[in-house]
Amino acid sequence: MDQAGLLIIGANGQLGRALQAKYPAAQAVDSNLLDITAAQQLADFDWSSVKTIINAAAYTNVDGAETADGRPLAWKINANGAANLAQIASLNDITLVHISSDYVFDGTLNPHTETEDYSPLSVYGQSKAAGDIAVALAPKHYLLRATWVIGEGKNFVGIMLGLGQRGIAPTVVSDQIGRLTFTSELVAIIDHLVTTNAAYGTYNATNSGEPASWADITRLIFTVAGYDLAVTDTSTAEYYAGKDGIAPRPLNSIMDLSKLAATGYTGHDWHEDLSTYIQKELAK
Ligand SMILES: NC(=O)c1ccc[n+]([C@@H]2O[C@H](COP(=O)([O-])OP(=O)(O)OC[C@H]3O[C@@H](n4cnc5c(N)ncnc54)[C@H](OP(=O)(O)O)[C@@H]3O)[C@@H](O)[C@H]2O)c1
Repeated sequence: MDQAGLLIIGANGQLGRALQAKYPAAQAVDSNLLDITAAQQLADFDWSSVKTIINAAAYTNVDGAETADGRPLAWKINANGAANLAQIASLNDITLVHISSDYVFDGTLNPHTETEDYSPLSVYGQSKAAGDIAVALAPKHYLLRATWVIGEGKNFVGIMLGLGQRGIAPTVVSDQIGRLTFTSELVAIIDHLVTTNAAYGTYNATNSGEPASWADITRLIFTVAGYDLAVTDTSTAEYYAGKDGIAPRPLNSIMDLSKLAATGYTGHDWHEDLSTYIQKELAK
């Protein structure tokens, strides 16, 4: 990719950090340098040399988005912020790469294809769906639907490793099924689509491999890390019973990867990336 014309937005998030590692010569801005909701900052920014924007910025606190403070913020960042970038990309002939989520669906269809109608269950999912609709209006866009993103930062694998280290045997939901998406895989997919000039549009973008539940993923994490701890299965309904402020989540997060494969991309199995990730985390 032409790093000279590349702008990474949201550079300090999980995906943003992986993008900075892959494209060290690109311009990378965090929310202090460029807030995608700040009209004046966006107007003052020099877009003249930008050919490709990768937007890694988002409000990703799914339960936080259900709160009185979080709801408007999620909409402001995920919907208005994405729309701001879509408008800038359209006006300046820029390619916009934007990341969406399986949470724009209710999780009843299996697998999710790129043409499925929106049916978000949560405020986060609704705000992401609104952002998707805006991004899809930009003539040159790649809208990538990721699931269960794992990179440098707070994520499920890190949380489970932390529990394992402390000898805590967790109870984990066994009825949400999907695949992990490592940021390394998301970066590889982005690089492939942009450098091969794949057709603009929406692509499911997760690791490949046999889908699994969060409970089974936890078992795998403990096996790879060498923690001899039992993981107890529970259902989503049971796990959240009596708890307030929990966002509803889709049970099925399995994405159909055939459109991505048809562009010539060969995916990496999440099981292998998980082992590599755990070894690196334990070596820290
Ligand atoms: N995490 C998942 O499991 C998951 C699953 C599916 C899809 N996705 C999508 O994948 C993408 C990347 O997710 P991630 O896990 O890498 O997110 P993340 O680690 O939460 O990072 C998000 C970044 O966005 C920045 N940001 C927030 N508001 C901003 C604003 N107004 N202007 C500029 N930057 C802003 C944050 O910076 P500050 O901290 O400085 O505010 C943060 O660095 C997102 O679009 C997300 O919706 C994530």
